[in-house]
Amino acid sequence: MRKTLMMVMIALGLSLAGTYPAYAGNEDPLSEAVSSGHSLFTSHTFGGSGRTCETCHHDGGKGPTVLPNSVHRPSIAGAAALFPRFNAKAGHVLTLEDQVRRCVVGGLQGMPPAYDSMEMRAMIAYLTSLSHGKAINMGGKAGQ
Ligand code: HEC
Repeated sequence: MRKTLMMVMIALGLSLAGTYPAYAGNEDPLSEAVSSGHSLFTSHTFGGSGRTCETCHHDGGKGPTVLPNSVHRPSIAGAAALFPRFNAKAGHVLTLEDQVRRCVVGGLQGMPPAYDSMEMRAMIAYLTSLSHGKAINMGGKAGQ
C-alpha cells in the first residue's frame, strides 16, 4: 500500500514537473538582458547621427572613454557602482538611467529610451554587469 502511494506521488511529481518547467523558454533571463544590452551598446544608434555607445566608450565600455575631440576619460566599467550620483552641471542627482538618456541625447544625438522600456532595462543590466566585483560607491568618481 505504502509503495503504491509512493509510486503515485512520484508519478504526480513527474507530471507536474513536466507541466510547469522552471524557466519556460528563457534559459536565464538576466544573461539574456545583459547580452541584448551589449548588442545595443555596440551597435544601436537610437535613431541618431550614426554613433553608438562604443564610439566613445571603447571595447564595450571596458576600455577607455575617448571623446570625438580625442580627450581621454576613465572607463565606464565601474560606473554602475557610482550611481545614483549628484551631477553639479545638471544641478541634481542622476540615476544610471538618467546618464544613459543624457548620453543618447548628447553623445548619439538620438531618441532616449523610455525609463521602463526593454531597451533601458537591457542597457542597465549590461552596464551593471561591467561593475561586477566593484564596491558600491554611490556618488564616487570614475577611475578612483
Ligand atoms: C560622443 C561620446 C559619447 C557617446 C557616444 C556616449 N557617451 Fe557616455 N559619456 C560621455 C561623456 C563625455 C561622459 C562623461 C564622462 C566623464 O566626464 O568622465 C559619459 C559618461 C557616461 C557614463 C557615466 C560614467 C561615469 O563614471 O560617470 C555612462 C554609464 C555612460 N556614459 C554610458 C553611455 C551609454 C550607455 C552610451 C550609449 C547609449 C554612451 N554613454 C554614449 C560621452 C559619450
